Amino acid sequence: MSTFTIDSATSRATPTPVPGKRMTVPGLRARKVDGKTAEPIVMLTAYTMRMAQLLDPHCDLLLVGDSLGQVIYGLPSTVPVTLDMMCAHGAAVVRGSWHALVAVDMPFGSYEASPEQAFASAARVMKESGCAAVKLEGGEAMAPTIAFLTARGVPVIGHVGLTPQAVNTLGGYGARGKSAAEAKKILSDAVAVADAGAFCIVVEGVMEEIATKVTGAAQCPVIGIGASDQCDGQVLVTEDMLGLFERTPRFVKRYDDLATRIGEAASTYAAEVRERSFPTAEQTYRPKGG
Ligand code: KIV
Repeated sequence: MSTFTIDSATSRATPTPVPGKRMTVPGLRARKVDGKTAEPIVMLTAYTMRMAQLLDPHCDLLLVGDSLGQVIYGLPSTVPVTLDMMCAHGAAVVRGSWHALVAVDMPFGSYEASPEQAFASAARVMKESGCAAVKLEGGEAMAPTIAFLTARGVPVIGHVGLTPQAVNTLGGYGARGKSAAEAKKILSDAVAVADAGAFCIVVEGVMEEIATKVTGAAQCPVIGIGASDQCDGQVLVTEDMLGLFERTPRFVKRYDDLATRIGEAASTYAAEVRERSFPTAEQTYRPKGG
């Protein structure tokens, strides 16, 4: 566990000792050599400064996912998420991290219309948050946009397979690639995104065999979620893996049961307030020697 030194002027907590250099895009890309990644890449989502601080020492990549729409804002999908939200949460996560590379999701409607629209949105996200990369959903149709961004100083993470921003087209969040035609399309999407210059690709919610093929076919690292243990890395939504929700997708492993623990803490607090056993003298300001 890191020790933090608090700067009382800014309330900013700096880890002690300060970690070395932050992960870079070329450094991450170079983790895959001749189609193989020796040490799997560790990625988690983060939306807030404090969560970023806690996750940062353990992760190579922190993703400010547009899943914040559901997780933080209680929205029904990622579709209503805005650039304003992504910029604000991206900046918080950059402020709370020192080691991991921070990537921010481009929200629905901020990049699909044209490469120029995508560049304007990505430049805003990078300037306002300080992140080093953006992620966008889509396969072959997005390849020209990925090439355009990459050539103009915007490192891009691709996202193929189940693409949650397309929920209204897909009709739900079920696993993709069950038919041969769909499997072939996901593979060609991944190759197109990699060839366009994405330094990394997220493959989400696909049959295991497809994830393995995508990992073998793409030159850049492939990060799986609901995919395969053969991917070059793994990502999960942090609140899912911490057990903050009653229902989680089948591919999530819960590493804790924070929902229960938070409920217990809140219940104990409520009982102590009601019986006036909190606060005690220890939590009360009184004159010294009084
Ligand atoms: O928005 C998100 O959190 C994501 C991950 C699930 C990969 O895109």
